[in-house]
Amino acid sequence: MKITLSVLKADVGSIGGHIIPSTALINEVKNFVKENGAGLIIDSYISHTGDDIAILVTHDKGVSNESIHKMGWDAFLAGTEMAKKQGLYGAGQDLLKDAFSGNIKGMGPAVAEMEFEERPNEPFVFFAADKTDPGAYNLPFYLGFSDPMYCAGLILSPKMSKGFTYRIIDVEYTEKDKIIELNAPEEIYDIAALLRDNERYVIESIYSRTSKSQAVSISTTRLHNIAGKYTGKDDPVALVRVQGEFPATGEVLAPFQIGHLVAGFMRGSHNGPLMPCKLNTTISYFDGPPVVTGAAFCVKDGKLTEPADVFDHPYWDYVRQEVSRKATDIRRQGFSGAAMLPFSELEYGGIVDKLQKLEEKFKLVN
Ligand code: 13P
Ligand code: 13P
Ligand code: MG
Ligand code: MG
Repeated sequence: MKITLSVLKADVGSIGGHIIPSTALINEVKNFVKENGAGLIIDSYISHTGDDIAILVTHDKGVSNESIHKMGWDAFLAGTEMAKKQGLYGAGQDLLKDAFSGNIKGMGPAVAEMEFEERPNEPFVFFAADKTDPGAYNLPFYLGFSDPMYCAGLILSPKMSKGFTYRIIDVEYTEKDKIIELNAPEEIYDIAALLRDNERYVIESIYSRTSKSQAVSISTTRLHNIAGKYTGKDDPVALVRVQGEFPATGEVLAPFQIGHLVAGFMRGSHNGPLMPCKLNTTISYFDGPPVVTGAAFCVKDGKLTEPADVFDHPYWDYVRQEVSRKATDIRRQGFSGAAMLPFSELEYGGIVDKLQKLEEKFKLVN
């Protein structure tokens, strides 16, 4: 059976700053999807990561389906109403357009989708990250799909020996989707040359070169490209099919042990280590650190199992300690140098105005 996985994610309001949506907001979105998804979707899973709420649905309508996107948009609107009613912080934060126009992409919410023929057993992982942007997945999915130091299957499994095709998007270009396709292993130096720049070149999807099937889909929204100013971080979601011709779940998870430094953290303006956290985690230290959660599922005829929390294991407690140490370390240098994002990426308009005013006060001497 051919099914589609669609995940739509937005920040439409949260308690106590950018921390966590309220239970009433989450329930509002859940109920909306339950009532309005009848006859449209097969199954759903509503969750939150930090202050973002994600609607994962299975259906048979294909990607970019207007009815699915409209239902997601309207569910976020219903959530926004509840957020306003409760006086939540940032009600409707990621809903950047007034009226729905056919596709939720480019309107603020993050979207990742995949249509595929279900395998007899179909495991996948749904990742959600908060206080960071889509480039946060560049390193883990480069290593998890192309480096035998992390993905043993590249050496051990004949189904994976041909490698993977990466579709990489240039997110600075906003007229259309500007995409390059590159093959690992032959072109890994070119892939690495692009993926080192997390703010500009972002993995959009990955395909098996053996079966041609899609393995990965990542949301690539840049909110500041839509709004023209800072409205919140881009907080990306990803869908990753695992096992068989794809990496094993543990191979996909392995690179998250690095806790690599990503853009985001406080006011979307700093670098901080990406911490793999348990499902339904909140946000704390310096509006961070940037977090990623993973819910693993199996799906049969579009019906989802319950989620398995991939980072809920003693090993990841140890990793979280290490990442906390890394977070404290970079925070000790405050605004200086590598701790804060470069000027071109600074999300707060305020500093731009400030520097313009200071520019006028500079004097040319001798
Ligand atoms: P099983 O033999 O338990 O299916 O595991 C295979 C595998 O992929 C482990 O990484
Ligand atoms: P969010 O994008 O998660 O709303 O965070 C915004 C922010 O400025 C945190 O300090
Ligand atoms: Mg927020
Ligand atoms: Mg967020």
